[in-house]
Amino acid sequence: MKRLLDVLREDLALTGSKEGCGEGECGACSVLLNGAPVNSCLVPAVQCQGARIVTVEGLAKGPRLTALQQAFVTMGGAQCGICTPGMLVSASALLAQSKGRVPSADQVREALAGNLCRCTGYEKIIDAVRAAATLKTAKPARATPASAKPARKVSPARRKSRVR
Ligand code: FES
Ligand code: FES
Repeated sequence: MKRLLDVLREDLALTGSKEGCGEGECGACSVLLNGAPVNSCLVPAVQCQGARIVTVEGLAKGPRLTALQQAFVTMGGAQCGICTPGMLVSASALLAQSKGRVPSADQVREALAGNLCRCTGYEKIIDAVRAAATLKTAKPARATPASAKPARKVSPARRKSRVR
């Protein structure tokens, strides 16, 4: 059975979504499924017929970075190519939910609880997500060509304990 992640990467050449664990644990493969972050490595492609899928490639409209992407760049939240796409996808869902309010650090931690970083840490990412809520009016930057989540397997409590 083909996974959504395989269709995106292999059939559609949308390689922004990454395969980390392949088991629903890391969030590197996160995409939005009808607006909600899911782990695309756990989603059978056949279940997505008629659904609206947004990958990291689709967060920006055209060549301009979103406020969230810009904040990741300027505040050091864009740490590596494996975790960053999924972090952006999950954070974008949080910001859409927040409707212009600045989420608390704990709210960001909860939203990113399914996105793991095994090396650098979460503080700059959390700061960037919170800053993005205030960057809506900032001059957008030009995007560079680069690569950029909920069928959650991990329980909310367990995920929360991972984000420090
Ligand atoms: S690749 Fe790790 S959750 Fe999908
Ligand atoms: S896994 Fe990407 S910065 Fe740690």
